[in-house]
Amino acid sequence: MISLIAAVAENGAIGFENKLLYWLPNDLKRFKALTTGHTIVMGRRTFESLPKGALPNRRNIVLSRNPDFQAPAVEVFASLEEVLRVVEQTVANETEEGVRPDNEVFVIGGASVYMAALPLADRLCLTLVHDSPKAADAFFPVFDPQEWRVEHEERHDADERHAFPYTFIDYVRA
Ligand SMILES: NC(=O)c1ccc[n+]([C@@H]2O[C@H](COP(=O)([O-])OP(=O)(O)OC[C@H]3O[C@@H](n4cnc5c(N)ncnc54)[C@H](OP(=O)(O)O)[C@@H]3O)[C@@H](O)[C@H]2O)c1
Repeated sequence: MISLIAAVAENGAIGFENKLLYWLPNDLKRFKALTTGHTIVMGRRTFESLPKGALPNRRNIVLSRNPDFQAPAVEVFASLEEVLRVVEQTVANETEEGVRPDNEVFVIGGASVYMAALPLADRLCLTLVHDSPKAADAFFPVFDPQEWRVEHEERHDADERHAFPYTFIDYVRA
């Protein structure tokens, strides 16, 4: 199963100047719950935006075309196709906390990797943020709603920890 997971504004925006647009604790909680124990795949720029590097208790894979790129606790690949082949064939190492990530893949961004992975995805786990920021330079790819069916939808109001209302919405291929 290949899932894309993203927090997306109503105008499709996902980032600005290599940073996320929103700080939504419930979105981070859902991201952690969905991805822990699995494989996460990200672009080199998204990896470099992570404040503490590789995310714990997950198999961290970074895509880069630079053969010299390396970083602690990540595996680096030059194409998505190669990632999927390797994830099918190899078992990840156990993490320090004793978690052995399985072969379920979550593509965690950014824009260029979502774009490349969309045709291969079985599921989209989106947090639709009910806002349309003007300052944005990275966008989720446009997808055809006819090709996807809503599997789960859950709306939340803004509150003292969430500046905007948001909807968790999971799509699977129709
Ligand atoms: N809202 C969200 O849920 C969310 C999630 C993640 C990221 N973001 C945002 O998205 C933005 C970053 O997106 P981005 O498109 O600029 O960067 P990105 O996709 O994170 O990284 C781009 C880099 O990844 C490598 N790459 C991408 N596709 C590849 C492929 N098919 N094969 C091999 N290497 C590949 C290349 O690295 P090299 O240049 O090293 O070759 C490329 O320059 C940031 O603003 C970030 O905050 C948002």
